[in-house]
Amino acid sequence: MYIQIKGVPKYPVVMPEQLKTLKVPVDSAHVAEGRRIGSMLCRACHYSPETQKLTGSHRTDIPKEFGEIYSLNITQDQTHGIGSWTDGELYYFLRTGIRPQTGQYVPPFMPKLPRLSDDDLHSVIAWLRSPDPELAPDTHEYPPTQANFLVKLLSNIAFGPLPLPDQPIIEPDTSDTVALGKYVADGLAACYACHSADLKTLNDLEPEKTPGFYGGGTVMLDIDGKTGVPTANITMDKESGIGNLTEQQFVDAVKYGKKPGGGGLHYPMIPHTALTDTEVKAIFAYLKTVPVINNRVPRYQEAN
Ligand code: HEC
Ligand code: HEC
Repeated sequence: MYIQIKGVPKYPVVMPEQLKTLKVPVDSAHVAEGRRIGSMLCRACHYSPETQKLTGSHRTDIPKEFGEIYSLNITQDQTHGIGSWTDGELYYFLRTGIRPQTGQYVPPFMPKLPRLSDDDLHSVIAWLRSPDPELAPDTHEYPPTQANFLVKLLSNIAFGPLPLPDQPIIEPDTSDTVALGKYVADGLAACYACHSADLKTLNDLEPEKTPGFYGGGTVMLDIDGKTGVPTANITMDKESGIGNLTEQQFVDAVKYGKKPGGGGLHYPMIPHTALTDTEVKAIFAYLKTVPVINNRVPRYQEAN
């Protein structure tokens, strides 16, 4: 009862000096990199086909147990979008999940980016500032999210806000293939978030401690919000995972959504065309170092 009234909690905001004065470089290289990352991490949730901009949309693919969820307008409009946020406020919010202006915590369905490198996060912010037509100011607004009891409960117990990193996060040297793959899979694209046992037991700060890490089995929702789509076991287990895939089959699956053995992979496994071949091959090399899990997941066609 107490939680139902208390709702999604608020937290004290401590903005470090260097964030108060943060000004990210809005040069063409950072904007292009930010657009690439945003196309993988932000666009799917914030894009509205109606306005053809990132004005937010009704998320039918978030399980109903979480409530009626609307993503918000993140165009450059000063009042309806994020035009008035400072670079430091965006940095703080995207790392921690806490709105720096109010201390209000964004519920679990908006991913946080605790392990993205500083330079990549600066790129995302540079893109949000750039003259991308999809981000041009737009006053369109959706009704506020109606988080239900489960979200309120989880926001109070399981999912808390994340701390700011205590030291700079630097991208690994691209010559270290496994380290690069780990960064792209765990830090950038958050593959483990879908490919582990349960969305409710993710460990954002230490992903490898997530139960069922890369063993799949979470049942995601199709875009219709009704049909369940279980995620695949992508550990190298030969019987229930991807231990028999060639590197090329893996690249085709991840970049182009081709199902190994024929056909297409189902939503929400969207093609990651924004990743380079080098990055996807590095993920493959990294997955070879992840402990195998024998977990035979009923796949989409079998499950429905
Ligand atoms: C899984 C869906 C999802 C993804 C992916 C996602 N968001 Fe969100 N985002 C949401 C939802 C839902 C809300 C609103 C939550 C609420 O009502 O409190 C939100 C809120 C926000 C807000 C706060 C807006 C405001 O006015 O308070 C910002 C800023 C934002 N998102 C930026 C981003 C960026 C940048 C990315 C990519 C790095 C991203 N989001 C990825 C779902 C998503
Ligand atoms: C939003 C959730 C989501 C994210 C993020 C995601 N996946 Fe998937 N993935 C799925 C689902 C669901 C399936 C199963 C689709 C099907 O059965 O048609 C899948 C299937 C796969 C497959 C096919 C396995 C097989 O044996 O058929 C591979 C490989 C894969 N994902 C790798 C990745 C990698 C690498 C990343 C990160 C770059 C990633 N996925 C990110 C949900 C996701």
